[in-house]
Amino acid sequence: MAEDLSQLSTAHRTALLSRDDRLFHVILAQQFDRELIQDLCRLAEMIRAVAEVRSGAQFLNTLLGHKRAMLYFIQPSTRTFLSFTAACQVLGMPYNEVRNASTSSEVKGETEDDTVRVLSQYFDLIIMRHPEEGFAERMAHMQNAMRRAIPIINGGSGKDQHPTQALLDIYTLHRCLTHPGESRPKPDYSPNPFDGKTIAFVGDLKRGRTVRSLAYLLCHYPGVKMFFVSHPDLQIGDDIVEYIQRNDVNFELHDDVRTVIGDCDAVYMTRLQDEWDSQGESKAIDYGKYCLTYDMREKFKKDLVIMHPLPRRQEIDKRLDNDSRAKYWDQVRNGMWMRAALIATTFNIDARIIDHYHSYYAH
Ligand code: NCD
Repeated sequence: MAEDLSQLSTAHRTALLSRDDRLFHVILAQQFDRELIQDLCRLAEMIRAVAEVRSGAQFLNTLLGHKRAMLYFIQPSTRTFLSFTAACQVLGMPYNEVRNASTSSEVKGETEDDTVRVLSQYFDLIIMRHPEEGFAERMAHMQNAMRRAIPIINGGSGKDQHPTQALLDIYTLHRCLTHPGESRPKPDYSPNPFDGKTIAFVGDLKRGRTVRSLAYLLCHYPGVKMFFVSHPDLQIGDDIVEYIQRNDVNFELHDDVRTVIGDCDAVYMTRLQDEWDSQGESKAIDYGKYCLTYDMREKFKKDLVIMHPLPRRQEIDKRLDNDSRAKYWDQVRNGMWMRAALIATTFNIDARIIDHYHSYYAH
């Protein structure tokens, strides 16, 4: 078992997360290539169509009744937690939760590693959110070494990554850029909708894990351009910049959303992640430059896609909530379908869902 992950190449790290050439653990955005993203978006679209009719919803509900999931969420969460529980429910998979380490045997001095080992004996999947980067990956490696290894899904690892959020974000972007205004698009995610498009990431990019994961995924789409709009102290990490450069993707760094908003096809707003401050240092930052105000509407492109992983503070004026370009509520719902697609893929039941979709919607 590899102890020091930083010594391993990304290719080696991602290889350790799959089994028989299929996705097993979901830990890093770098595990997803264009084909896998496309398959997951297609499956999410199919699940949502199948779930719309009673017989379809009942069919989905039979698929994972024989498995159990544990949600080990020891960092605050509402939407990601509920999104995963709803995804489990869509697939009929019972779940249980530990949300507070102070009610587990950790107060008796048990290490978290032991807690996770114990949990893995009762369940068939662990979905976890943890403040420490690398914890979920370490737990995945620990599982690999166990006789009965179960998959680990990372629901947010410190300031580092949030791959399932990035998948729902790319699904949302795909839907909005390819099929603006369509509620039930055909599940075809093979064309590249990002060619010639500019996506701006705005806010606390240094500590925002959602942006980091999404930037990795966007590098699979030639012709995309990324703007990173942030206070210099909160700018995107050098590791992401290097990755983008290595992939020959166009990007620019900016420090005021007002100067770029008119050029954007999508804008991804984020809140100040001040829970990571050591001494309230980000209080001095004028976050007004990283907020969307109502009067900026004049500059928006007609089909601008406005996104936010939520929770929101003041980054988006509430009066924009009912603008048809505001897609942050859609993101939440898309997340449930995408997470169901991911769980279905992990348990190898994707082909059954695809067959069901085609038998119902045969053309
Ligand atoms: C994000 C997170 O937890 O990283 N929220 C989420 O999962 N939707 C963003 C945030 O907390 O700002």
